[in-house]
Amino acid sequence: MRSQSSQHPMFPDATHDEQSRQDFVRAMRLHLMGDMRRTNTYLYKHKLRPAFQQVKARPPRSRTEVRTLMGKDPFTKMWSSLVRTNQEMLYDTVGPSIERQHPNLVAKAKRFCGRGGGTLRLNPDLEVPAYLRAVDIHCKPGGYHTERCENDLFAGAEYDRTVNVYLLGNLGPQNDDIALSIIRWLRCNRPEFKPRAILDMGCTVGHSTIPYGRAWPRADLRAIDVAGPCLRYAHARAEGMRRKVHFSQQNAESTDFPDASFDLVVSHLVLHETSNRAVRNIFRECRRLLRPGGYMLHADGVAHQEDPFDKYMAEWSAHYNNEPFLGTLQDMNLSQVAREAGFAPERIYEMRIPSVHMPRPHSLMEKTNGRGRPSDDRPLWYVIGARK
Ligand SMILES: C[S@@+](CC[C@H](N)C(=O)[O-])C[C@H]1O[C@@H](n2cnc3c(N)ncnc32)[C@H](O)[C@@H]1O
Repeated sequence: MRSQSSQHPMFPDATHDEQSRQDFVRAMRLHLMGDMRRTNTYLYKHKLRPAFQQVKARPPRSRTEVRTLMGKDPFTKMWSSLVRTNQEMLYDTVGPSIERQHPNLVAKAKRFCGRGGGTLRLNPDLEVPAYLRAVDIHCKPGGYHTERCENDLFAGAEYDRTVNVYLLGNLGPQNDDIALSIIRWLRCNRPEFKPRAILDMGCTVGHSTIPYGRAWPRADLRAIDVAGPCLRYAHARAEGMRRKVHFSQQNAESTDFPDASFDLVVSHLVLHETSNRAVRNIFRECRRLLRPGGYMLHADGVAHQEDPFDKYMAEWSAHYNNEPFLGTLQDMNLSQVAREAGFAPERIYEMRIPSVHMPRPHSLMEKTNGRGRPSDDRPLWYVIGARK
């Protein structure tokens, strides 16, 4: 028996046994990121930090000091090891299921082509940046970009299925919470803003792209990524949903769009997977691409925690889950980077905007308000933005 999601027509299916394995990985992750993760916080606050304080007469000041402490604790070591194992299980479980149905997905993609009116422009000669090639990012075998066969869309289909398990469904049924949160922020705070051309950078399979088309149906909607297999899937997904998006394979650091092409340039969960130099290039490129009065808005989940323990938790994946830039990004002054890219200081926004879908903190992962206190509010997305 096959389970089929009603999410959208391209969504990969799962046989009974595949679904059961994926449910197990999800349940294990839920446990690891719920009660077990909270135990780390408890240990830090009640055992490790007091012990450190006694010796040094001050609390730990940096994520590195917290990491040194936590890295010696047997519970944290066990938790880390289990989270890493769970991540590997995620791909070991979803991968074969996608491989089994890959020919079907390719055939479906062909059938859906033309339904939405969008386009796909690939560039097989595009050089994938070293920061995406150097490691299998968050243990995803082959990363986003590896081409396995003709018409390959494996990496995209696998991403669509794994992201639900990995993020525990917190981004909503269409995995579009970040875009919806940005759109709501724009509608509430800039009601007069009606973009005519929108660019989504690092779109992967288009989870965040589609909501902009729904919010501003007359806008010319473009989305780029460096990863061909994700873009093939993104295009097929959008066409299957009858949404018009023009996808192209491009590096956000340097695109081929003319100057002043867009009123809105966005990215979602992209900055933390790049590099120090790439973030600077991306901000400069955004400024070039924006029309006067246009906005760039980049949302990321983990940037700019303030408490050293929160920073440690946010950078855990840099050390144990192949996301090497997660530590450094938190130490960067992104407002300064935006200034250096040419944006006027009074037009730069560094903010946290409330999530539309994410459950309140107590229900799944422990979240804090950035100063280490439990928060009653909705989880927040960190956004660095600027107006040209
Ligand atoms: C975590 S995923 C982003 C998810 C997606 N934005 C969403 O909201 O569902 C990161 C994506 O950024 C892409 N990416 C990273 N650096 C890029 C760059 N310089 N140019 C274009 N895409 C990039 C990766 O290929 C990957 O698909």
